[in-house]
Amino acid sequence: MRLSYHISGAHVLQPHGDYGIMAHMKILVVGSGGREHAITWRLAQDETKHELYCAPGNAGTAALATNLAIGAEDVAGIAAWAGENRPDLVVVGPEAPLCKGLVDVLSDMGVKAFGPCAAGARMEGSKRFAKEVMNAAGVPTGKAQTFTDADAAKAALPAYGLPVVIKADGLAAGKGVVVAETTAQAEAAIEDMLVASKFGAAGAEVLVEEFLDGEECSILALVDGENAVLLPGSQDHKRAFDGDKGPNTGGMGAYSPAPVVTPAMMPGIKEKIILPVVRELKKRGIEYRGVLYAGLMVTPPGGKTALSGSSINVVEFNARFGDPETEVVLPRLAGNFAKILMSCAEGRLEEADVVVKDEMAATVIVASGGYPGSYAKGKTITGLADAAGVPGAIVFHCGTKAQDGQIVTAGGRVLSVTGLGPDLRTAVDTAYAAAGKISFDGAFRRSDIAHRAFDRR
Ligand SMILES: Nc1ncnc2c1ncn2[C@@H]1O[C@H](COP(=O)(O)OP(=O)(O)OP(=O)(O)O)[C@@H](O)[C@H]1O
Ligand SMILES: [Mg+2]
Repeated sequence: MRLSYHISGAHVLQPHGDYGIMAHMKILVVGSGGREHAITWRLAQDETKHELYCAPGNAGTAALATNLAIGAEDVAGIAAWAGENRPDLVVVGPEAPLCKGLVDVLSDMGVKAFGPCAAGARMEGSKRFAKEVMNAAGVPTGKAQTFTDADAAKAALPAYGLPVVIKADGLAAGKGVVVAETTAQAEAAIEDMLVASKFGAAGAEVLVEEFLDGEECSILALVDGENAVLLPGSQDHKRAFDGDKGPNTGGMGAYSPAPVVTPAMMPGIKEKIILPVVRELKKRGIEYRGVLYAGLMVTPPGGKTALSGSSINVVEFNARFGDPETEVVLPRLAGNFAKILMSCAEGRLEEADVVVKDEMAATVIVASGGYPGSYAKGKTITGLADAAGVPGAIVFHCGTKAQDGQIVTAGGRVLSVTGLGPDLRTAVDTAYAAAGKISFDGAFRRSDIAHRAFDRR
């Protein structure tokens, strides 16, 4: 069964306007992680061969595109390259350049870009702003208050009970959130952020937030300022070790579809969460174009109901494709990806044909020893070709570089090994069969990706 998503009542919309036959395009992908490798890989699958560039890319993207020696956050450098080379589209991967206004700069130059403007990227860049928008739009989410004064924040804790969640307002690379099981932990987190400035300006304001009970999932919605198309749900694994133990990371693996979010839930998520936010932003003069990533908590029947009264609540919004969710969602997407991204950037999403393949996907992150704490780089990686040779496997590079003819580690998360299959078991087994062929000093990975889906059964 092929799932086709449609915007209005009409079933599958035929592309028209100048999207029928998508010409060869010059596309720049900004970023250097697994997400960007997956975006570049997916663009390279399009029937029309595009001229692909990555800034700065990694050893994986180098096989599909021309890597440019320009940093992902170098807004001026990217703008200068775009001015000279006039790409048809720039796809901005990570949140930092989005929050720095890269899309605004490119739009002012008449260069089309996929990703929100800086004002829209605040949906991720400021958790206080995101809450404000959600509350104004009537979107179900955890009750929260923001504080700049530590004593006032601590005084508010009893009203939330335990556990309670303390969040830095700004970007903190996935490390700015503490789920406190005790008052002491909550107070320590408040001290760290507001007094010790552990996250600098990002922690100058903190949220004290209601703990939401349930199971998490990620919904990536393509948005063109007005309309939205929800890509299939997925589930990340935030904790470093098996059994969801250890510190929070950027994500140790993902799979799609995730049974916690059923197809029946999708229309409600779109109508009650995604579109109200898009409309509220529009009311504030912000045309949100790009990915609106909703991190959701689904409370099972009998679970602790949130104060919102809803069984689905927003934990957070991100303003970009998730990583590692992208490495499982994009391989499931059929159709012309460049066309879909361009239709978003041009506010014509209703003309895009977004089709999800039957195949299921799972990805396993292979990380450097010590991650998410400190870790060594420059370790020689072996087994990449064998892994890529496993039928149904795709090896995405997250933190790698070429050095003296070898591929070496260059990050905490090094590789994201994706497996595809007609069912989740096969997808997971394929991912592990491929990941098992890869090694470097200190490499580690979780062995229980998708455990919640299998436990459920
Ligand atoms: N209100 C909440 N109730 C329960 N758990 C929560 C809550 N808020 C956050 N968490 C937990 O903390 C994790 C990180 O929180 P959140 O997603 O808001 O932060 P983030 O740093 O922006 O993460 P990311 O790197 O995914 O963007 C969540 O994935 C979830 O596991
Ligand atoms: Mg976030």
